[in-house]
Amino acid sequence: MNLIYRPRRLRKDDTIRRMCRETRVSSDSLIYPIFVDEMLLGKREIASMPGQYQYGLDTVDQAVMECIQAGVKSCLLFGIPSHKDALGSSAWAENGVIQQAIRKIKEKFPDFYVITDICLCEYTDHGHCGVLCKEQVDNDQTLDLLAKVALSHVRAGADMVAPSDMMDGHVAMLRKTLDEAGFIDIPIMAYSAKYASAFYGPFRSAAGSAPAFGDRKGYQMDPHNRKEAIKECSLDVEEGADLIMVKPALSYLDIIRECADTFDVPVAAYAVSGEYAMIKAAAQAGLVDEYKIMCEAALAVFRAGAHILITYYAKELAAAIQKQDIG
Ligand code: PBG
Repeated sequence: MNLIYRPRRLRKDDTIRRMCRETRVSSDSLIYPIFVDEMLLGKREIASMPGQYQYGLDTVDQAVMECIQAGVKSCLLFGIPSHKDALGSSAWAENGVIQQAIRKIKEKFPDFYVITDICLCEYTDHGHCGVLCKEQVDNDQTLDLLAKVALSHVRAGADMVAPSDMMDGHVAMLRKTLDEAGFIDIPIMAYSAKYASAFYGPFRSAAGSAPAFGDRKGYQMDPHNRKEAIKECSLDVEEGADLIMVKPALSYLDIIRECADTFDVPVAAYAVSGEYAMIKAAAQAGLVDEYKIMCEAALAVFRAGAHILITYYAKELAAAIQKQDIG
């Protein structure tokens, strides 16, 4: 046959396939979420997320050590406090669980990059992400508390803060607070397009943060919407976000692509707990090859335009990149 174009020429063997790849993946782009439980000694496997653990303050350095050994250079910290109240006051306590964890990590591994999740849902006794006014989360009162949380994390040594609360004006509030305290160099990664998603299910039992009543649809985004994601990202960038995030990842690849094309800041994507749990469950049932699915799912997020991937598979992906199974 007289064909001009034969795309198969560039697929002939591994060398040419690798040479022509459009998407490159690096372990520099991976962030590993770590859960620290103030009441725990040692570590405990999370039932809803097999292979993931909650760490005590005595073992959080072990979690970090495992990241470093795998080639992962950054973590996103989540805290499970011993005390909860209506305002979530232990979130900004000088000796709160995250503040202690940051100091412990930084003492041993000063170069390990520590990002903290800024939200109140793990710290409030009602499990909502802010101050309640009747059955609604009050936006502006919540902003004052989030500012305190961010400042206390940064004072304890956090390298970056990541507000995940979905309050309006949260980036402006955090930027102003950090700048006034002299922390002009601390970047903000905003969970800008965070959808009200069922994919967070396993996380809420891991972090003890399920809302006691209702849901988060009053502040997290409606999964039907695309333009609204652009608006949320625009607002966060205008308010000074250094990085923006789309969350969840795999069901929102269209949003990742659009944000990556539209904004000139790095875009992170969060492959959330439900995405991880689904792959694990399917693999454990013998239905799919976990390793290959993990690689392909991560690749899809980068191909969609993400610069950074937050994932529970960070260590395994770093190993896969090292072995050149992806990348
Ligand atoms: C806190 C927060 C959540 C997640 C990250 N930060 C839970 C939620 O919004 O309900 C979800 C992460 C995951 O599912 O892996 N607000």
